[in-house]
Amino acid sequence: MLNENKNYKRTDYCAQLSELDIGNEVVVCGWVDGKRNLGNLIFVNLKDRTGIVQLVFNEGTDEDVFSKALSLRSQYVVLARGVVRKRSSVNKKLKTGTIEILVDYIDVLATSDVLPFEIDDDTTASEALKLKYRYLDLRRPVLQKNIMLRHRIVKFSRDFFSDNGFLEIETPMLIKSTPEGARDYLVPSRIFNGKFFALPQSPQLYKQLLMISGFDRYFQVARCFRDEDLRADRQPEFTQLDIEMSFIDSNDVMALMENFIKGLFREILSTEVPTPFERLTYNEAMKIYGSDKPDTRYDLKIKNLNAILVDTNFKVFSEAVACGGAVLGINAKNLASEISRKKIDALNNWMKENTRLSCFSWAKVQEDGTASSSYEKNLRENEAKMIRENLELKNGDIAFIVASKDKLVAQETLGALRVKIAADYNLADKSKFNFLWVTDFPLLEYSEEEKRYIAKHHPFTSPKKEDLKKLDGNPAEVLSDAYDCVLNGFELGGGSIRINDVGLQNKMFNLLGFSKEEVENRFGFLTEAFKYGVPPHGGMAIGLDRLCMLMLECRNIREVIAFPKVQSSADPMSEAPSDVSITQLKELGLSIK
Ligand code: AMO
Repeated sequence: MLNENKNYKRTDYCAQLSELDIGNEVVVCGWVDGKRNLGNLIFVNLKDRTGIVQLVFNEGTDEDVFSKALSLRSQYVVLARGVVRKRSSVNKKLKTGTIEILVDYIDVLATSDVLPFEIDDDTTASEALKLKYRYLDLRRPVLQKNIMLRHRIVKFSRDFFSDNGFLEIETPMLIKSTPEGARDYLVPSRIFNGKFFALPQSPQLYKQLLMISGFDRYFQVARCFRDEDLRADRQPEFTQLDIEMSFIDSNDVMALMENFIKGLFREILSTEVPTPFERLTYNEAMKIYGSDKPDTRYDLKIKNLNAILVDTNFKVFSEAVACGGAVLGINAKNLASEISRKKIDALNNWMKENTRLSCFSWAKVQEDGTASSSYEKNLRENEAKMIRENLELKNGDIAFIVASKDKLVAQETLGALRVKIAADYNLADKSKFNFLWVTDFPLLEYSEEEKRYIAKHHPFTSPKKEDLKKLDGNPAEVLSDAYDCVLNGFELGGGSIRINDVGLQNKMFNLLGFSKEEVENRFGFLTEAFKYGVPPHGGMAIGLDRLCMLMLECRNIREVIAFPKVQSSADPMSEAPSDVSITQLKELGLSIK
């Protein structure tokens, strides 16, 4: 009977079979994920993207089929036909652990060399090796699950925005270089030697132009490119869920996004996200958490100790207060015994390497009431006592204090220390998804490096209406109509209401230090478009990779991207970037120095 029909087609995915299929003849395809040979009985685990099902070959199996089964090696690709039957010994680890397929036909569709590493979620293979063979790494169940869930997240997103009247419109990948923020990836032009396209850092300008065109609700699953240093939540090439709307205000955008996230979490994770999200102004976030993307899953709130220390003799503190800076503290409750002197030293070293301040002060009270501190001996008794009271330092607690003549530096440093302590001592409730909006950002920030103001969000973000008059005299105090969506300490997305008045847009360019010629050169097409009826508009972009990373509880954004780049922005698999031929360079009018 063998080979009576070689044209079998798959009827089922491996792990979608269940006891309901018992007695049915099925055809499955997949990769060999293990074989046990018991002489006259062979078991083969067959795996596809849904999981594993067991194939059985026994005394009754056709000789030819049996010898093919004998020849199977790990990762061979096979098609197998057989009848589903109940398994005599249940495998609780497998979804299909109560059934197996008694095979009567098998086709070896492809053989496989011995793999460079074992395809197993617990593999000890190095990250570098796994990324070199990413297509094999992607056979690991965890990555298969992540990529499939990412598909569902994108599908839900497309459906949600379509259902809410948004049009998906693609914007170009080869655009004019208008760097603001990160560095552009440049693409040399063959026709115009010496000139360059840039890959988009985001579809920002085009989506605004689409509003001018009248497509009043736009969205795109948009690929973006930024030549910036990589971190665990950053890739040079990433995807935004990008939206823009006309005739709305910031509350409309935030409400829409809350609905989107609520629906998405319900659909994908069966989790109820409470809405509306908490809102914090930028100033509040910095004051309480020392970060504009606070993780609110744990407490460790920052307290300002300035008032207690105005007259102190301890110079480190008094100078910070006198110079308009800040002395700030946090109380790491119940960690006094865990954070030993050695660990305090390690934390101080970490601070030296990772923040703008070189050390902190600390005080702890052990469970039995014995106290020790790096600073209390320098303070008057009542000052030390008031600090303890202010920080609510009880038996078992340890306090960390930073002082700086620059309040922002003190806030950012203690904010970073807060995150570090929470990570080291597992303070965050991992089951929580804490969303919040951070609003009322400053419109501008001063760049010491560039000796000019730069836009905190981007140059198209509108100042708050009530702050417009401050633009001339006091630009540093102007707040913007921008909002960031924060999840568990990550900036998930950001957006703003845009400037829709050409005069104001030009004023903004002016404040950012662009000359008229520079504006004309870089943004001329935009200011031209602004002459022809610009509706009030705004929007935002959510980092899709970051969203997937956080929803799927991954530690690195690479785990939700099929073919990610490594730290150096290179691709170890294809070995991009690579040399190109002299002919290619010549065509582009380029030579390498
Ligand atoms: P922004 O620059 O804040 O805003 O980007 C929006 C979101 O994109 C994600 N993101 C990244 N994800 C992975 N790797 C990166 N290198 C990376 N850079 C950014 C983040 C971020 O919150 N055009 C505006 C949006 C708007 O105003 O509508 C913009 O791009 O999750």
